[in-house]
Amino acid sequence: MVEAPREPDRPAGRGGSGGSGGGRAVGPDTLMARTPPLLEEVSLVGEARFSTGLDELDRVLGGGAVRGSLTLFGGEPGIGKSTLLLQICDSLSRHFNVLYVSGEESTSQIKLRADRLRVRGHGRLRLLTETNLDAVLAAAESLSPDILIADSIQTLYRDTLQAAPGNVGQVKECTMALMSLAKGKGVTVFVIGHVNKEGAIAGPKVLEHMVDCVLYFEGERQHAYRVLRAAKNRFGSTNEIGMFEMREEGLAEVPNPSAFLLAGRPIGVSGTCVACVLEGTRPVLAEVQALVTPTSFGVPRRMVSGFDYNRAMLLLAVLEKRAGVFTGNRDAYINVVGGFRLDEPGADLPTLLACASSAQDKPIPGNLCAIGEVGLAGELRAVSALPQRLGEVARLGFTRCIIPKQGTQNLVAPEGLEITRARHVRDALGELVGKPESPPPRSQS
Ligand SMILES: Nc1ncnc2c1ncn2[C@@H]1O[C@H](COP(=O)(O)OP(=O)(O)O)[C@@H](O)[C@H]1O
Ligand SMILES: [Mg+2]
Repeated sequence: MVEAPREPDRPAGRGGSGGSGGGRAVGPDTLMARTPPLLEEVSLVGEARFSTGLDELDRVLGGGAVRGSLTLFGGEPGIGKSTLLLQICDSLSRHFNVLYVSGEESTSQIKLRADRLRVRGHGRLRLLTETNLDAVLAAAESLSPDILIADSIQTLYRDTLQAAPGNVGQVKECTMALMSLAKGKGVTVFVIGHVNKEGAIAGPKVLEHMVDCVLYFEGERQHAYRVLRAAKNRFGSTNEIGMFEMREEGLAEVPNPSAFLLAGRPIGVSGTCVACVLEGTRPVLAEVQALVTPTSFGVPRRMVSGFDYNRAMLLLAVLEKRAGVFTGNRDAYINVVGGFRLDEPGADLPTLLACASSAQDKPIPGNLCAIGEVGLAGELRAVSALPQRLGEVARLGFTRCIIPKQGTQNLVAPEGLEITRARHVRDALGELVGKPESPPPRSQS
């Protein structure tokens, strides 16, 4: 699981950083001076890690931050990147000297935010408002902090480059220089990078290959709920996610996301079903809602939020063709509660069931969860990690779960959970919302 560290002072990336390495003539003798080690000779050097004080963040980093590494935090403006990094300063500055560089806010603005977040500096947290990269490096040289936070990479610039701050060249140059600081001086660097909706021209994407870790902070601004995902991690897996809730006093960890996402769920109402999806290695329960109503206009409206639009259209088509639940003349609205996104095959069945339940106005029992991928023939297909998912379903007090029959013969249900194996969406529907209505007459089909 632990990858051996890279060669220390060779930042990844191809040239362009003005000089080091190019030019010197290297003869064959010099080249052969170091015999490459045999696999057996390589010793496993564990990285020195430390906790950021936030378990959810530590988990995404692979068990804490690695000393001398550079981590990029990407996300849309306003999502909470500055909040997250200022918040960990409280815990970090208990043990380390921290230099917080901001090109976006004044020291008094940072102080105000720190007060709101109840962040203290413990005499080890210094604030620097600076956008000139060389001034930042000079400060790092004289203060030799253990940790440097740069908010944001788009505000930093090097005046030897013609381009404006935020330009691809500037952003790359500044990242490269901070990477050398991390590798050369062993400073742990956290860098914030804004992502814009259009896909980030000079955003974190162009920097991904240079840095050690890239974490994306995601969520809907209107919702409190935030997910931290690793897109790249040289020191751990990229499967883990961290969950947070944005509150007045800052980001609160959500150690129990399923309970959070299911809070306030309506019971006994048609058009809602609970799904269990895998987020990294973690099963998470979420509620998917559907409203299928007769259309008032010629063309039915379809709106989908938190679920892939095309996938939802496919499920409506399967529902009609394979299970006889007609939606062609109805509007369909599909929404995943809490701003969560279900983008995993296991969410097919609960989404389809929510649509059928709404179309037939028959509630799905509140103690039931559904898991399964839906094929075009209406068949239900196995999904990964079913035992873990069922464990989570049972843990949250559900007593029934409907799963695909295929590939689950040897599966043992957790105690207290009754599982129903269904081969086809028709079977699943028969179990839950009763037999489909007889199809309305159609002129042609
Ligand atoms: N005074 C405040 N009270 C409560 N929440 C605030 C306040 N100021 C900012 N926030 C929250 O913090 C978010 C901004 O987070 P921030 O860390 O500045 O984002 P980023 O650095 O990613 O642009 C806002 O969207 C809001 O939810
Ligand atoms: Mg910010």
